[in-house]
Amino acid sequence: TATPLVDQFARRISYLRLSVIDRCDLRCAYCMPERMTFLPKAEVLTLEELQSLALGFIARGITKLRLTGGEPLVRRDMIELVRALGRKIGDGLEELTLTTNGTRLAEFADDLAAAGVRRINVSLDTRDRAAFAKLTRRDALPQVLEGIAAAREAGLKVKLNTVALKGVNEDEIPDLIGWAHGLGLELTLIEVMPLGEVEEDRFDHYLPLSAVREGLERRWILAPSAHRSGGPARYFDVAETGGRLGLITPLTNNFCDGCNRVRVTATGQLFACLGGTEQVDLRGALRSADPDRALEEALDLAMRIKPARHAFAIDRPGAAPALARHMSMTGG
Ligand code: GTP
Ligand code: 5AD
Ligand code: SF4
Repeated sequence: TATPLVDQFARRISYLRLSVIDRCDLRCAYCMPERMTFLPKAEVLTLEELQSLALGFIARGITKLRLTGGEPLVRRDMIELVRALGRKIGDGLEELTLTTNGTRLAEFADDLAAAGVRRINVSLDTRDRAAFAKLTRRDALPQVLEGIAAAREAGLKVKLNTVALKGVNEDEIPDLIGWAHGLGLELTLIEVMPLGEVEEDRFDHYLPLSAVREGLERRWILAPSAHRSGGPARYFDVAETGGRLGLITPLTNNFCDGCNRVRVTATGQLFACLGGTEQVDLRGALRSADPDRALEEALDLAMRIKPARHAFAIDRPGAAPALARHMSMTGG
């Protein structure tokens, strides 16, 4: 049987983030420019290719699969894909999930739950309609809130992801947490990372979560929690709200030692690190004469080139992005 995926730093890779499309129906200012150039559709992996890729990873010991984008739910055959992958739950796969912006959840929540998805992460940076429209450049907050409600009604566990942004949602963070916890939802704050060319200087909006945490601790008691979701978040139980708060701190508190993941873009390019350029062409492997063997070798190569840690820094105004690639290529 196939050998598990272990990198040169003895990190066991058990989690795949598979981007199914680079397109998105929002244009979050920290993620992409208004006039984003998307890939020609022909470049994107087919349903069959995504499936055999996922099966190849599961054979190598991937137990957790997260579908991402762009926005995964704008892919036309997304539910078909989720259904097909859902059949692997309990047969190698422990968890199938997705990260979504929520705009199409009202339509698809029931199908996702029926296919075996148990929890999803929804990106929500603000509950202020005007601020949302400004940040995402689309007036879609009501749709997203409906989507979150529909997901809960469908029995999905929802976790909110909030990028902490100075001058955008800084003052609203306690209110967002209180609202989420009041609904029984977890919320995770994320430090903004310098990926891809966008119009605004990310430095202007960068908010270290060390500072956010200090602010929150003036109001609430945050007890460090032993809870782990399998991701980079570190968790706190908020005594006053009874809810759980996650912090993802690539810049102020590095978590790469515990990295358990690789990412694959919608064109089948494996990125060994979100914050690196080390890359392996899995589409080429899939389309070769002996795909099983080629994929096997490509994954072995990925384990050899996975870097120890990312090299992100947000250290000065006007600095170029650390990487040219946009977050929507690798799905975060
Ligand atoms: P859980 O399974 O709920 O823990 O989710 P997750 O944190 O693994 O996935 P999610 O899609 O919610 O990730 C939230 C965001 O955290 C991503 O979009 C990235 O911005 C960031 N993130 C996730 N994994 C990594 C990582 O390996 N390195 C860095 N630098 N950031 C990451
Ligand atoms: N830095 C941090 N998080 C980002 N996301 C998108 N771009 C960035 C960035 N530059 C987040 C989204 C979403 C997840 C997929 O990635 O807000 O929650
Ligand atoms: Fe779309 Fe997510 Fe990027 Fe926002 S952060 S533009 S929702 S891919």
